[in-house]
Amino acid sequence: MTITVFERKRGPGTTSEDRLPVVVVGAGGMGKEWLRMLATSPHAVPVGVVDLDLDLAADAVATIGLDDALVGASLDDVAERSGARAVVNVTVPQAHRVVNEQALRAGLPVLCEKPLGPTIAEALSQVALADLTGGLLMVSQSRRYFKRLTAFRDAVSVLGPLAAVHAQFFHADHEPGFREQMAHPLLVDMSVHHFDMLRFLTGDEPIAVRCSTWNPPWSWFAGDAAATAEFELASGARFVYSGSRCTPGLQTSWNADWRAYGEHGAAAWDGDDVVQVDAGMSEPGVPDQLEGIEGSLEEFTTALRAETTPQNEVRANVLSLAMVEGAIRSSDLGGERVVIADLLEESLAEAIADERRDDVAELLRSWTSAADGIATPAWGSAPAAIARGGAR
Ligand SMILES: NC(=O)c1ccc[n+]([C@@H]2O[C@H](COP(=O)([O-])OP(=O)(O)OC[C@H]3O[C@@H](n4cnc5c(N)ncnc54)[C@H](O)[C@@H]3O)[C@@H](O)[C@H]2O)c1
Repeated sequence: MTITVFERKRGPGTTSEDRLPVVVVGAGGMGKEWLRMLATSPHAVPVGVVDLDLDLAADAVATIGLDDALVGASLDDVAERSGARAVVNVTVPQAHRVVNEQALRAGLPVLCEKPLGPTIAEALSQVALADLTGGLLMVSQSRRYFKRLTAFRDAVSVLGPLAAVHAQFFHADHEPGFREQMAHPLLVDMSVHHFDMLRFLTGDEPIAVRCSTWNPPWSWFAGDAAATAEFELASGARFVYSGSRCTPGLQTSWNADWRAYGEHGAAAWDGDDVVQVDAGMSEPGVPDQLEGIEGSLEEFTTALRAETTPQNEVRANVLSLAMVEGAIRSSDLGGERVVIADLLEESLAEAIADERRDDVAELLRSWTSAADGIATPAWGSAPAAIARGGAR
């Protein structure tokens, strides 16, 4: 099947190339980051900007100099008038599902900012939605694309069976807005990156978690800005995590500070430039690759072009979100062990009970389990193409 999502366009600062015309929904702090990057991207061109706050969208377009981009409050309208072929969803987490649904039902693939949604139940509904529409829904977990994370992964791969991976994240973030009002600003907004990086790093999956969260007395966040968590992984290794968003000194990288040890040695990454390995190998090479949101955009457009499954296609992202929700649940239960598989099944029941769209509810009910639901063929895999009636 040929997907006609690319058009020949010229954008500011680029040569004429095949660039995917996209609408960016959400023109807040991160939406502007995306627009600035897209303005000169060889992979995509912003042809429209949508926000509930029209002045904000217009201001973003004017400031960044996107003279040809349309502005509006309705995704359907802007997408149709601009000829967009995909959506980048940079709205607040509570709005991710509604925007993703609008886009997918209009036949537009979506690259959605993390977190996929505020709950696993919402994430499962979005898996069903992607199945129903046959569209690509990918979550932008942009920290997977740091070159030195890949180098650290190469170092970790020589350690043999792992005993443990430790990550520490200590920051003092002053970002007024939804973050300072969230119940779990560390786990939901930031640790989801680190938990997702752990899965990328080890290829291992979470089985259970014990966690404690709290808010230090001087915290400027309304919710819990600090946490410690210990995850049991499928291999038997442990992932030990400590974090805080209100640490006034000795701050770590945004990527966290990492150490892993296994049967044959140990490796560490400071989250920035320094990767160390003590396992009889020389320092791992650093690959030449795009980082951050540029990396995730490149993977999204490549997947659309080649009809391959990108990392963090919606199904694959559910377990990163489950690590967050499992940690929150454990903390709410006073540090009790929470089994991820149980949480997934409860979330499926919740998703079915909450679902208002008949087609999505029916599909969710047809899954024998949540684990089965997220094991359905992903967008870009051969069985998925056949299910959509395409030939590969
Ligand atoms: N990958 C990263 O490193 C990174 C960094 C910062 C933020 N983020 C993510 O980006 C997203 C946005 O964060 P932000 O800091 O820009 O938030 P923000 O509050 O600054 O901006 C969000 C914008 O979305 C708009 N919006 C909300 N609901 C909408 C809807 N239904 N339709 C259209 N517009 C809507 C709001 O009006 C607002 O302008 C979040 O999911 C956040 O987690 C990711």
